[in-house]
Amino acid sequence: MKHLLSLESLTVGDFRSILGRVDGFKRNRRSHPRPLEGQSWAMIFSKSSTRTRVSFEVGLRELGANVLFLNANDIQLGRGEPIQDTARVLGRMIHGAVIRTFAQSDVEVFAQFSGVPTINALTDDEHPCQILTDIHTFEERRGEPIVGKVVTYVGDAACNVPASWIFAAARLGFELRLAAPPSYHPADSLLVRAGGTLGAVIPGLPADARCWYLQSGGRVVLTRDLSWAATGADLLYTDVWVSMGKESESAQRVRDLGGYQINRDLVKRARPNALVMHCLPAYRGKEIDADTLDDHAETIFAEAENRLHVQKAIVDWVVS
Ligand code: CP
Ligand code: NVA
Repeated sequence: MKHLLSLESLTVGDFRSILGRVDGFKRNRRSHPRPLEGQSWAMIFSKSSTRTRVSFEVGLRELGANVLFLNANDIQLGRGEPIQDTARVLGRMIHGAVIRTFAQSDVEVFAQFSGVPTINALTDDEHPCQILTDIHTFEERRGEPIVGKVVTYVGDAACNVPASWIFAAARLGFELRLAAPPSYHPADSLLVRAGGTLGAVIPGLPADARCWYLQSGGRVVLTRDLSWAATGADLLYTDVWVSMGKESESAQRVRDLGGYQINRDLVKRARPNALVMHCLPAYRGKEIDADTLDDHAETIFAEAENRLHVQKAIVDWVVS
């Protein structure tokens, strides 16, 4: 049985198997196969969501499933029933689950105890469906694979979204530059899990840069030097400064991350055909300015739409 709990466990073949299914679902939205006909899938969400919730609910229905949206606070899970017991009960009734929660261990335990295909719809550690969508969107719009390209992530580089980008770079062989103050860099242990080897800082990199070489041929460069990180980038990418669950740190984060913004001046440093993407929701004037969001709205909202098509591909891969 397959699950999608993390990008860490995917092979290159898995990435390509998922991404290779997307066009079929996107082009034939009204007539594609319905592999979940007769099934019931649960969506268990402990955090807010617009894109993930709607795209999964619509997508699962269009794949043929009945869908139960379960706000974690409305079921006994929210009153302290263990995730193991919730999984054992639901696993006897449903055919698959999509879970958005805090602890990564919760999706892992659910997968183990439910015995049904389980998909991570965001945890504190990872957002695998988002990054698969982002890679598809990049390759779709550029018409070429992401291997060898430069992806520059700006902002809170210690949260779930950049973690999934790191695991993607570890398989797909692109350069991921994470531009953030040092206290918002990912832990070394994450780079080690991704198979990275910390290398010498080579000429051309900023003095503070820490460069992790990946077996895929890609590398992850951690730096506070936003200008360097954006120079020659194929993709400029950002996410919120204050992730869900970090609201009590809002004021501190706005102070610390001020300046780590994608704006028109920064975009000028990237390649002329560079894409600007944002997983959304966007906070204009914080991680991205309003003008840049407008300039690149066509890409950013196509990226949001692609959640629907890519997640159908993910579900189809999980049940195949
Ligand atoms: N990008 C994303 O996951 O959006 P939601 O939080 O609205 O689902
Ligand atoms: N890092 C953000 C992603 C939102 C889609 C969060 O966890 O809130």
